Amino acid sequence: MNYLGISAGFHDAAISVINHDGNILFAGHSERYSKNKHDKNLCKDLLLDAMDYVDSDQIEYHYYERPWVKAMRQLRSGEGFRWPTWNRLLGNSYNFLDQPQIHTHAHHLCHAAAGFQTSPFEDATVVVIDAIGEFDTITIWDAWYDFSTGKAEYKKLWSMKYPDSIGLFYSAMTKRVGLRPLDEEYILMGMAAYGEPNHVADMINELVDQKDILTFKQNLHAGVGEDFLKDANPMDIASSSQHLVEYMITRVMSRARTIGRSRNLVYGGGVALNCLANRLLGNFYEKIWIMPNPGDAGNSLGAACLGYGAKVNWSDCFLGHNIPGDYPVNPILDVLLTDKIVGVASGRAEFGPRALGNRSLLADPRGTTIKDQVNEIKRRQKFRPFAPVILEEYVDQYFNMPRHWHNSRYMQVVGTCRNPDLFPAIVHADGTSRIQTVPKDGSGIRQLLEKWYFMTDCPMLLNTSLNIRGEPIVNDRADADRFEKLYNIKVC
Ligand SMILES: [Fe+2]
Repeated sequence: MNYLGISAGFHDAAISVINHDGNILFAGHSERYSKNKHDKNLCKDLLLDAMDYVDSDQIEYHYYERPWVKAMRQLRSGEGFRWPTWNRLLGNSYNFLDQPQIHTHAHHLCHAAAGFQTSPFEDATVVVIDAIGEFDTITIWDAWYDFSTGKAEYKKLWSMKYPDSIGLFYSAMTKRVGLRPLDEEYILMGMAAYGEPNHVADMINELVDQKDILTFKQNLHAGVGEDFLKDANPMDIASSSQHLVEYMITRVMSRARTIGRSRNLVYGGGVALNCLANRLLGNFYEKIWIMPNPGDAGNSLGAACLGYGAKVNWSDCFLGHNIPGDYPVNPILDVLLTDKIVGVASGRAEFGPRALGNRSLLADPRGTTIKDQVNEIKRRQKFRPFAPVILEEYVDQYFNMPRHWHNSRYMQVVGTCRNPDLFPAIVHADGTSRIQTVPKDGSGIRQLLEKWYFMTDCPMLLNTSLNIRGEPIVNDRADADRFEKLYNIKVC
């Protein structure tokens, strides 16, 4: 039996496949194939790619939320009601899949399963924070494996319901500063370093009902309107939003710590992508797991995990489209040592929003000009920081890591660079860096870093996603060739 998880119909459609042994055979995003950013529809090329990895005729289909419950929320909240059908949710792919029977699972339970069943833990307190599932916006769970069956068990301990939502608050502020909600929250997070948190009191007065209970005075689903903090500097709005959201997250973690049985934290939902806020998690838990795709696309894996039932075999996030061949360590080094900047498109694509070495633009992080050069290539706002990817055993030598964070293998947390003057390209205005640590796992990026370190005495590289402006991350070799041609950067 294969368990095929589907996230589709709203945003960031994705498919994951787990086999009868608990191996994750495939996990990929629709947008990478259709080139339509945040594509809500499953596209044919994604399905064909996924089906290549299916190793059994028997397939069970699992969907990432309960569409009829969600429709009831939409009806009750006046969002507009359309009776959901599989034809509407899955489009042409429903017929492509021969109109299968599809099992549905609660949205937050899928987040919980995507986190817990990929985690190294035998038990965990699971915290899910996102914009909204069906009705849930925050949930706290006890999760464990049944000794006799090996199946994962979940008990929901506490929840916050729509429209009170930390995620919707952050999305409303994203919209307020002119960015796209449910897409560019990570830019708002980056802007926070350039502002002052001088509007926190205004936000609390106008929007928040009870900040410790996390209730709001209004439904923030549609945003706050342009008159809210009308003359404020957008950077100050960003800083204040980050400040307030961090306060609220710590309230949730404090509650989880009190009511959850386990001292292991599994954290999921789109808010778990806020790597700046994640530095605070170690104040509550010593052992932390955030699956590299904790948002709704990752729920395809959560749905498949619920179908499979037991702990899955997690090794890494390289689960998407394959570009065959050995990782081109020497060709990458040749370009890095001469031109300082190089693209890499090799092996299986990352499952998640971050490029972690297989679809990356890499650069020498030393020197004062490299940040501007890479920003120029990517046509990005000047304030946007770049991330370092570093040999894991050197991370403490080069960075002050937050409490109880000993690694950050999927760029889940920020640290503070000990020598920011030596590595200005990977240090943000607030002194933080979004770190990716690479263990001794034999991966391509590991081999590259080892050789780079041997040749330069520098254990890290600058790492950013390989994508053409306005498009999702490069998926196949044709995308890589197009990138090379457009930007005149060698892609190995
Ligand atoms: Fe979600």
